[in-house]
Amino acid sequence: MADIAEIMTLSPVIPVVTVQDADQAVSIARALSEGGVSVIEITRRTSAAFEAIDAVRRELPEMYVGAGTVWTAEQAEQALEAGARFIVSPGVADAVDDVCRERGVAYLPGAQTVSELAHLAARGRYCAKLFPAAALGGPTAIKAYASVHPDMTFCPTGGIDAETAGDYLALPSVACVGGSWLTPAAAVKAGDWDAVRLEAKNTGHLKTA
Ligand code: 3PG
Repeated sequence: MADIAEIMTLSPVIPVVTVQDADQAVSIARALSEGGVSVIEITRRTSAAFEAIDAVRRELPEMYVGAGTVWTAEQAEQALEAGARFIVSPGVADAVDDVCRERGVAYLPGAQTVSELAHLAARGRYCAKLFPAAALGGPTAIKAYASVHPDMTFCPTGGIDAETAGDYLALPSVACVGGSWLTPAAAVKAGDWDAVRLEAKNTGHLKTA
């Protein structure tokens, strides 16, 4: 099982996806994979999330499928039961951290402040999702966060798109970014998987850590 630092090097962009059903998730994951992106975070924001994770894990075993928006121990257990290979929280969620530690599963906790980053570091977590990155102040803010947390590696997420991803990835503290722009709502609704494949391909020029 890969650790989170390794998973953060799989792609410069972790697509953050909210799906309506399992078939849609598999189509999205297939398009991303064909476009060269081998990791996907399926958020727990719809009731389809767990069956979607299960379907992607079974049908596209090459894809690193993770569960996002995981806040509680119970949700973490459900995500692992469904086959999630990593777990993401948008903020600090110690109960989720504890489950991932016990189960030896890769975990990306979130943080919004330098104090929360200090809390994560005290628990031995040196990789963090900085969310919502653009609202926190974008690359300028992240540079400041990194200056007081030189041992941390970041995955900024929230408000990032194809135009701005490179500015974040240029920072040495940033291994990858997360975002929903690879799966535009209109394209997903229309089943336009070519558009998703193209968005994935377009990340090919971005640096990986
Ligand atoms: C997440 O949970 O990571 C975000 O919803 C993704 O943010 P974005 O939609 O602004 O890319």
